[in-house]
Amino acid sequence: MQPSITLLALFPLLGSISASPLKARQEVIGVSSPGAEAVSATATESGVTASSSAADASATSVAESSGASDTSASASSTDSSAVAAATAGSTADTSNDLTVVKFAALAESLEKTFYETALSRFDAQAFTDAGFVDGQGIFDQLQVIATDEATHLTVLQSVAQSLGGSTSDVDSCTFNFDSALADVKTFLATARVLEFVGIDAYIGGTTLIGDKSLMVSAAEITTVEARHNTVLNTLNGGSSVPNAFDMILTPQQVLSVAAPFVSGGCDPVAALGLTPTPALTITNTDVPQPGTLLTFGGAGLDGKDQAGLFCNMIVGGATESINLPIAECKVPDGLDGTVHLFITSSSTPLSSNIVNQNATAIVAGPAIAFIDTIANPQSQLLLGTNINSNAAATNGSSGTGKKKIVITQTIVEEDIV
Ligand SMILES: *[C@@H]1O[C@H](CO)[C@@H](O)[C@H](O)[C@H]1NC(C)=O
Ligand SMILES: *[C@@H]1O[C@H](CO)[C@@H](O)[C@H](O)[C@H]1NC(C)=O
Repeated sequence: MQPSITLLALFPLLGSISASPLKARQEVIGVSSPGAEAVSATATESGVTASSSAADASATSVAESSGASDTSASASSTDSSAVAAATAGSTADTSNDLTVVKFAALAESLEKTFYETALSRFDAQAFTDAGFVDGQGIFDQLQVIATDEATHLTVLQSVAQSLGGSTSDVDSCTFNFDSALADVKTFLATARVLEFVGIDAYIGGTTLIGDKSLMVSAAEITTVEARHNTVLNTLNGGSSVPNAFDMILTPQQVLSVAAPFVSGGCDPVAALGLTPTPALTITNTDVPQPGTLLTFGGAGLDGKDQAGLFCNMIVGGATESINLPIAECKVPDGLDGTVHLFITSSSTPLSSNIVNQNATAIVAGPAIAFIDTIANPQSQLLLGTNINSNAAATNGSSGTGKKKIVITQTIVEEDIV
């Protein structure tokens, strides 16, 4: 059996992209369109199908995939009546709106605390020492991002109040970022993950929102999270805008990535009535590149016989995952940018669209990987001669230099021509 997928083999996959994202986007948008009530959800094994409307289907999905106790379920339906009262006159199902606001508040609180902790630990000099030409400029840029996250959180707290609720049961969460803030390089790599997951959180959340004005507010934040992600892509030496399409996670999948940072003070599962999907981690010590055989760990795989499991790589724009036996999970040539990884029990590729995804096939995930294969000239400007796609913090002289040399030559040639 030949597990590796060459660039050539990817072409059919990439070729199918041009037709599919529009359809995929219509399906997502269908949830939020005025005709949402009339849209039928696509049948899936997870039992989402029985609903008469796409919005209801999402709600059903939350309830069914939630392991929350009856207690938290009834607490959340109490909240729902408050939401319904607050949005009287709307025919949309707004019963999940407060949950989504609280979920977003948890994500923003995590990001805010992450940046504040990082910027109290790393000063401008630390960024200069890590190889950036203008350490102060990088510090200031990250400070702006931290302020954005704090502002988002404050606004979400007010929105929860306007819905007759509160974010207090997620505001109390405390976080531990010790391993994520071991050094500047790890900080920036983790920030890149959190910003991408921030986009996931807002768009995934909109599949549950009923109130259209809340959807607009969510969109206004989503685009800013995407700008943050672009900055972090560049600071990590990756493509600023690697793909024409992003991939979206469900709220349960976002929680799977976020929950390990929660160190106490709250019970996100009870507060949100959402159960995280089982955690997945990539155990490779080197940064994954095309050709890397990925290896996995994490709570979702604990005690599981990995024979018979499959790895699924979801990349921007593809309608479904690249599905490989877990022991043959090699990063294909031709990938650049963010990859969402899932382990499934099925050799059927996972749908990229969370509305149609077969949730029952997912054993663990997501894990997030960044495959940086295309050198970014903007990164070189920030990192000077220290450019090294997978090592933002590498010292100039100790960098591997391969990409550095290629990029420098390209720029010089362009200048001359
Ligand atoms: C979903 O995945 C499960 C587990 O692999 C499988 O049994 C089922 O047939 C799948 N459903 C669909 C609709 O593909
Ligand atoms: C990076 O370079 C600086 C100055 O050239 C040096 O003091 C420092 O020890 C280097 N750090 C590493 C990790 O090599």
